[in-house]
Amino acid sequence: MTFLSFTGLLLFLLFLSQVCSEQTDIVLSGEGQEFVMGYCFGADYIVIYKSIPGGEQLLGNSSQAHLPNTLPADQQRRISMSNETNLLGLMINDLKELDSGTYKRECWQNQKLISNHTEHLIVCKEEGSSKEIILNKDDGAEIRCNSPSIGLAGTSVRWYHEIPPQYKTTLLLDTSVSMEPLMEDLRGVVKVRENGALLVLDKTVLEKSTQFYCVVFKGKMCLSFQNYSPPDNSESRDVYVSKGDRVVLNCTTDGNQQHWDTPLGKINSNSMKNNQMYVSAGDKPETFSLIIPAVSDEHNGKYSCNSASTDIEYSLYLCPKSTSQEKLSHPGQQISLECDFGHENRSMVQWHRHMINTPDQYEFIGEIDDSSIIIAEPLKSRVSLSSSGVLTISYLTEKDEGVYRCVALTGPEFVDYGDYGDTDEYEDETTSEDDATDDEFIDVTVRCILKQEMIVKVVNRPNTLYAVVGGLVGLVLVVAVIAAVVIAKRRKGKQNSSIL
Ligand SMILES: *[C@@H]1O[C@H](CO)[C@@H](O)[C@H](O)[C@H]1NC(C)=O
Ligand SMILES: *[C@@H]1O[C@H](CO)[C@@H](O)[C@H](O)[C@H]1NC(C)=O
Repeated sequence: MTFLSFTGLLLFLLFLSQVCSEQTDIVLSGEGQEFVMGYCFGADYIVIYKSIPGGEQLLGNSSQAHLPNTLPADQQRRISMSNETNLLGLMINDLKELDSGTYKRECWQNQKLISNHTEHLIVCKEEGSSKEIILNKDDGAEIRCNSPSIGLAGTSVRWYHEIPPQYKTTLLLDTSVSMEPLMEDLRGVVKVRENGALLVLDKTVLEKSTQFYCVVFKGKMCLSFQNYSPPDNSESRDVYVSKGDRVVLNCTTDGNQQHWDTPLGKINSNSMKNNQMYVSAGDKPETFSLIIPAVSDEHNGKYSCNSASTDIEYSLYLCPKSTSQEKLSHPGQQISLECDFGHENRSMVQWHRHMINTPDQYEFIGEIDDSSIIIAEPLKSRVSLSSSGVLTISYLTEKDEGVYRCVALTGPEFVDYGDYGDTDEYEDETTSEDDATDDEFIDVTVRCILKQEMIVKVVNRPNTLYAVVGGLVGLVLVVAVIAAVVIAKRRKGKQNSSIL
């Protein structure tokens, strides 16, 4: 009996571990794009397989110089393997529909399998541009999937979402199965209309999910996918302030075990006031914002607002005092904004902006080191960032008006973090403890050396009315001058004649 239940427990544990390691990530990609699998840190070599009917096909083994010769020529051409230590990975270029499927990566060290990971790749004919979710007045939203095929015979729509902390792409709804969400607890807060093209979300769903995807299928073939992110999706809420500023770190919680972790210790409602900062007693019970009446050096660092269902993080950077200047331009013109960061070594320069109608939200535009532009359209294709920190916006429209801000950060560890940050695999493989120490490390070393704001105003070209009035005034002046000269001459003439 005891033996049996022990074996049962072992089997159950084995089953659990099997289930946990077999969790499959969904990866969406467009035809012609690339797919990367791998990046095992510390492994000797990796092996990648693809599931095929009746088994698995070996795609590559990083410890062998050549790809398996069982692969079709087309795949041989498109697959490449990186065997650089620390960057073991397999890449498939120029993706095609037939690349859709399940891939498995094994990491081997000292002849032992140290981890494996499965991803399900869906290659779609088209990738729609990513969109920002616009909240309605109740903080809910309606997201529209822009595909002309929805509703045609044989098509279906799948909606996926991502939920922290794992950020796994999870199926929310599949119209080929049901018009109701797959998870019981989401019924009532997630709905679809118009054959699945319109996803209607309640505020509670948006608070928990970070990304949404709509994927349109015709039978098994993926026609298109599109990504939607909530407006407040900035992974780190970086707050750049100057000495003496009043700062409000916003947070709403469910009230359960709520507290703030701050560089000066833990703060909860019971210990409301600590000389330096306090939690606001807002009109709404769920408001749990932290107020720092006057920022000083010791406030630099990481803040998090926690409760049973909340985890909002802020990084507060104390910057030297800044002044703001105004820049005027006209629609259709180009404007260049300079960032005077003094070209200090190893500094990281970022541009942000906030629009007139969303005063407390800064959007991240981009960063000069990798000169990548993060901000979405309609600005993305019109901005450029030079290595000297100049942000140039062309074809200005009135919608570009707002406050543009550059900040310069310095600290050697910051650069290293950026390198790791690019490979999400790193996050998967390390324990959360490691992550925490990394974060603290970064906070201590990063300093803000400059914050500079520019208020961009886009005014219509010299108004035609002004031009006409100006012209008239000019004309009147010219006439007056001519008249004066003529009169003076006449007078002179008269005088002369009288003399004569
Ligand atoms: C990968 O290569 C290593 C070293 O050459 C070898 O020991 C291992 O069996 C290979 N694995 C597969 C699945 O081919
Ligand atoms: C919090 O919200 C207020 C009011 O909307 C805003 O003024 C403030 O800047 C916000 N704080 C942060 C850190 O975003």
